[in-house]
Amino acid sequence: NEEQTALFTIFGATGDLAQRKLYPSLFRLFRKGFIKEHFAVIGTARREWSDDYYREIVTTSINSLKPTEEEAKAFASHFYYQSHDVTDTTHYTNLKNLADKLDAEYNLEGNRLFYLAMAPNFFGTIVNHLSSEKIMTENGFNRLVIEKPFGTSYETAAELNEQIRAVFSEDQIFRIDHYLGKEMIQNISAVRFGNNIFESLWNNRYIDNIQVTLAEDLGVEERGGYYDKSGALKDMIQNHILQVVALLAMEAPNNFTEKEIREEKIKALNAVKIYNEQEALDNFVRGQYVANRFKNEDIISYVDEPNVNPESRTETFVAGKLEINNFRWKGVPFYIRTGKQLSTKAARINIVFKATPTNIFSQEDICEKLPQNILTIYIQPTEGFSLSLNGKEPGPGFEIDPVKLDFRTPTDVVANSPEAYEKLILDALQGDATNFTHWDEVSQSWRIVDVIRQAWDNDSQPIPTYPAGTMGPAEAFDLLAKDQHEWVYKP
Ligand code: BG6
Repeated sequence: NEEQTALFTIFGATGDLAQRKLYPSLFRLFRKGFIKEHFAVIGTARREWSDDYYREIVTTSINSLKPTEEEAKAFASHFYYQSHDVTDTTHYTNLKNLADKLDAEYNLEGNRLFYLAMAPNFFGTIVNHLSSEKIMTENGFNRLVIEKPFGTSYETAAELNEQIRAVFSEDQIFRIDHYLGKEMIQNISAVRFGNNIFESLWNNRYIDNIQVTLAEDLGVEERGGYYDKSGALKDMIQNHILQVVALLAMEAPNNFTEKEIREEKIKALNAVKIYNEQEALDNFVRGQYVANRFKNEDIISYVDEPNVNPESRTETFVAGKLEINNFRWKGVPFYIRTGKQLSTKAARINIVFKATPTNIFSQEDICEKLPQNILTIYIQPTEGFSLSLNGKEPGPGFEIDPVKLDFRTPTDVVANSPEAYEKLILDALQGDATNFTHWDEVSQSWRIVDVIRQAWDNDSQPIPTYPAGTMGPAEAFDLLAKDQHEWVYKP
């Protein structure tokens, strides 16, 4: 594993994301030798922490990876803390001095990765100062990694983008969508473009409908404040689900390279129909969870969660139908759904193939309705694929027997494979933006969801509810039933 050289500057170093994801991911890279001697991390945030205290926090955050004492100490010794008020110019001078000092000390060759893991209100100020205070270098790379949410609408995202683009060029910007770091999301391209038996059928002649389910079995936990302003549409659909849809729907790229893949994803997103408000109401449903006893636990209603407005109309569930108006997909509904406090935590994609042109087994009462072939991609918690086929039941006579070819990656392989964040940080270090979102994808995704948001905001009907521990409101099932379809995944 080739050692990468860089100075990381993490804005939001005391935060939840940094501790839950970034430090453990950096440690995994450290263990594998992707970062070794020539790296340093400056953690910044408003709080006053000492280097020692920061190192303690970093050490605690990697506990579950069971480092030896020596390993943990060696790793943590690369971390430095700088208390920082992002609006105060003098603080950037301190940051620059520390950065230059560490650059010399660790031989970092001017390579800098700036990681914004905090509320986006200050992104503009931060990037301006990085440039004006010359914290960006001339001799190495300067890359900006940005966490979601990237804006809250097309307009705010465009404004944010403009601020960032005033300093960083598109190829220096790495917008994180952690779903793109997941093994089975990356696998979509392998399945599609590595198998002629699928790719030749991957169109409206052979596919009946496509379903994407990203279900969660937890509530909003400590994030009520953020979530109540966001809701499931902005939290999951605008980013993760539309990225998955783009990968499922895009044309084959000429080569498997960053530029070509992004171009195809952008084209796919551009073909997603932007509804008017009435169409949005007809094709998208929302829901909010209400108290229920599930698996021997009393789950409280969303509106009773901490930091949530007791009168909140924020959706914790969304199901919808997307139309993709191009040659390949015209007429194939893409059904998507996501929600909190559902009956299970699971993400999967179902590709439902069309029925055979005629059912020759319908006579003689053999089989009135042949089950359709379904390719399922299991994203989490298990990873793998299955393909359902119809065969003959063994024995005398002739009965149709549906069978499932099922492959799951062994759990020890899943457990030992790199986590999404680990892969994405390494990609950013290596300058590969394939699994990050281009502005043209982000902006089009906002255009798609903005009108849905607007339609709901203008709709005074009570928001549908669902008991916690179920798969969403009745409306989510009706949505497919009116097309004579149903959700394949019924946990
Ligand atoms: C995040 C959302 O982007 O994705 C969270 O903000 C959600 O609300 C999370 O829980 C789901 O990610 P994963 O990897 O657990 O499926």
